[in-house]
Amino acid sequence: MDEEINLLLRGMENKCTEVKCGIPFYSGTFGDRSVVVCKSGVGKVNAAVTTQVLIDTFKASQVLFTGVAGALHPELNIGGIVISSECMQHDMDVTPLGFARGIIPYQEVSSFPADPELVRLAQKACRELQVQYMTGKVLSGDQFIASQETVTRLREEFDGVCAEMEGAAVAQACYMNSTPFVIIRSMSDKADGSAHVNFTEFTVEASKHSHAILEHMLPYV
Ligand code: ADE
Repeated sequence: MDEEINLLLRGMENKCTEVKCGIPFYSGTFGDRSVVVCKSGVGKVNAAVTTQVLIDTFKASQVLFTGVAGALHPELNIGGIVISSECMQHDMDVTPLGFARGIIPYQEVSSFPADPELVRLAQKACRELQVQYMTGKVLSGDQFIASQETVTRLREEFDGVCAEMEGAAVAQACYMNSTPFVIIRSMSDKADGSAHVNFTEFTVEASKHSHAILEHMLPYV
């Protein structure tokens, strides 16, 4: 989100901007860490292309992705954080050919595990900041989830803790390039169509959280 990008850019030194695939990539340093900050845009294709550019062009050795998501787990509150243990595409559906929903045909892996060390660092950051967090499976699809029926199905079928629109694409691109990743999401809604928070106000708050988490993690990655 722009709010997140702006907070990150403020703390960055030796800044340099390059546009690839229509997306500005901001390179620079945080202390002794070289970083590239960018906004992928919405959906799995944007996320996959952005991740591949980060890896190919900017030689990213690790990918940390932040943003908002809809909570699926009943104990997750709006404002709570989800740290990915793994990511799966809930809208991958080749059931007419006999594959279970979510399974990508003819490949070994359909649920992409996050890097355990990045997960540990994200958990440590949340504990230090005293923000509520949960670690679990992040579900991605090119759809905004807004019904209790779908929430129930996604819980039953995939045991997902939150639903969003990019994580599994970042995860798959990272997996294909042997690049460690973690997805960190702030819950903006309950994915059930119930009253949404004021999205603009919420993204400002959520951005502060993700920025603080990243700031805590960066010295150790
Ligand atoms: N991002 C934030 N809330 C979401 C939802 N309910 N479904 C998909 N993506 C989201």
